[in-house]
Amino acid sequence: MSNEKLSIQVKDKEFIPYLSEETILARVKNIAVQLSEDFKDKNPVFIAVLNGSFMFAADLMKQLHINSEITFVKLASYIGTQSSGKVLTLLGLDTNVKDRHVIIIEDIIDTGFTLKKFLPVIKANEPKSISICSLLIKPESLQVDIKADYIGFEIPNRFVVGYGLDYDGYGRNLKSIYQLK
Ligand code: XMP
Ligand code: MG
Repeated sequence: MSNEKLSIQVKDKEFIPYLSEETILARVKNIAVQLSEDFKDKNPVFIAVLNGSFMFAADLMKQLHINSEITFVKLASYIGTQSSGKVLTLLGLDTNVKDRHVIIIEDIIDTGFTLKKFLPVIKANEPKSISICSLLIKPESLQVDIKADYIGFEIPNRFVVGYGLDYDGYGRNLKSIYQLK
């Protein structure tokens, strides 16, 4: 079957299959194995950035076999398919991370502005370490000096939906990731 036939409509836009559920889950498992090794006996606190990372965070946590906690913050920077450059904190950090190993879980690093704004907020809480774990990164789109420690996939600078990622709130429930046609 051609990809043409499998294309989907989310609101007014058409998307084509990009990363299958199997491909994503295999990579998520790899990352979990790596994290389990690197943070064994370190009792890390995961901070998942809502909304986009909810599915990645859930699958990642299910594959971890170490003591850890997870908490959530809600940041927003996107309007439709464009980064606005402004980052809003809609739900802040409510967990004490002082002297803890923090691992930030993101769905995607695009321009990098979201993390650039969020990292000092975490640092102000004096954690023992901060690591960044992002399912996706768009290297061509990065505009700030941010280094992710764990990356699922490097992808081209095209808008994607599915597996937690949305177009104007829709498409988050898709099990695989689709790219704007
Ligand atoms: P920045 O530019 O701050 O962006 O690194 C991070 C946030 O922007 C959203 N984002 C996307 N959402 N498809 C989406 O559904 C995309 O291709 C995309 N690129 C960026 C996302 O919420 C991320 O946390
Ligand atoms: Mg989003």
